[in-house]
Amino acid sequence: MTDWTPDSWRKKPAKHIPDDYPDPDALAEVENILQASAPLVFAGEARNLKAELADVAAGRAFVLQGGDCAESFKEFSADGVRDTFRVLMQMAVVLTFAGGKPVVKLGRIAGQFAKPRSSSTEQRDGQTLPSYRGDIINGMAFDQAARQPRPKRMLRAYGQSAATLNLLRAFAAGGYAHLGNVHKWTLGFVKRSPAGARYRKIADKISEAMEFMEACGITPSTAPQLAGTPFYTSHEALLLGYEQALTRVDSTSGDWYDTSAHLLWIGDRTRQLDGAHVEFCRGIENPIGLKCGPTLDTDEALRLLDVLNPDNEPGRIVLINRYGADQVEKYLPKLVQKVESEGRSVVWSCDPMHGNTIKAQGGYKTRPVDLILREVASFMEVVHGEGAWPGGVHFEMTGQDVTECIGGAQAITEADLSSRYHTHCDPRLNGEQALELAFLIAEQLKHHRDISVAAE
Ligand code: PEP
Ligand code: CO
Repeated sequence: MTDWTPDSWRKKPAKHIPDDYPDPDALAEVENILQASAPLVFAGEARNLKAELADVAAGRAFVLQGGDCAESFKEFSADGVRDTFRVLMQMAVVLTFAGGKPVVKLGRIAGQFAKPRSSSTEQRDGQTLPSYRGDIINGMAFDQAARQPRPKRMLRAYGQSAATLNLLRAFAAGGYAHLGNVHKWTLGFVKRSPAGARYRKIADKISEAMEFMEACGITPSTAPQLAGTPFYTSHEALLLGYEQALTRVDSTSGDWYDTSAHLLWIGDRTRQLDGAHVEFCRGIENPIGLKCGPTLDTDEALRLLDVLNPDNEPGRIVLINRYGADQVEKYLPKLVQKVESEGRSVVWSCDPMHGNTIKAQGGYKTRPVDLILREVASFMEVVHGEGAWPGGVHFEMTGQDVTECIGGAQAITEADLSSRYHTHCDPRLNGEQALELAFLIAEQLKHHRDISVAAE
């Protein structure tokens, strides 16, 4: 790796990182404390994730990535973490069954605190203040003191990430994620959902498959795979001072890993080739996500792959496409053709959230479930059509019963948004909407699977 050090990003232009911390010494002190703190994840785990993503890139697995747009200090609770984890597990079971392939489970959690903002300031009633940039940087309240960046917030974000990871590890390995449990929750959802009849067929088939396995003696006590599951974490590598402080040399391989999460991604607004975020990410060995929106030129995408994955290592790169339901056809075919024709190994994933945000009555940002589903469907058509594997989906979601996205079987309307709108940034799918989408995507996966089988 030429000329890379954990701090080499500091010489490059850095977008969306505050440059107005009032006290640089206090900032340096916090970064030193983090540098001396325990890693949150381990290099070996990041390598395991990379191997699983290499399977996705090769068409042998699928990746489900999901969680909050922005985690927050105020909304943090053990029950909240449990509920999000639970919905992700339910979605994963439905997708595993429909796709007939393993599903890699990747939370947007335990570190997803820093946000790029479209404007650096916000105006309300004639007053202009710096924008809220996520709890790891400043506070959401609309007053001068809250909006000032404060380094100590990084320590609280680190602490909350550690606590969250501790819960996730217990849920994933301690019996809670046992396949039988997960399926029982899903049957409850199917019973409750106004669109349950549509999902019953898949749910009943899963029940049958499980009964069959049990009859053959395959149960959580005989097959440990059914009792627990690997669960990985991810967030946007935005606040690079924090990421640098958690970057360590792995004693086994001698390579650098960012130990704040298993996978880090580069946002659509910070993926400049000569910018600080690409510079930082090129030197760490974790799997890297790259958001691809309408402004990404296909040649530039290849240059980014040159820099971020010079050895074309499978599992290193997840291209997270986010164009908006109406724009997929326009941008995605060219990108898939170019990347595939150059023989680059990538995971093709779809984020159907960030291109489908609209303003509703009362000024609420929302996303229609219909558009979210339509973007996933177009993504699958296009990637399949180009002979590649549509290997993943990426959602902003929560296990809580919020009213932030409109539509779905609960038929949330614009007028309902104000009832439980709790997000600290973008609107998330609630637990029922997220699981419902998993069923609808399962139908699409099944459709493509039937086509491939017929072609064999
Ligand atoms: C996000 O994932 O929350 C985000 C800001 O996405 P993007 O960089 O794609 O806009
Ligand atoms: Co978001």
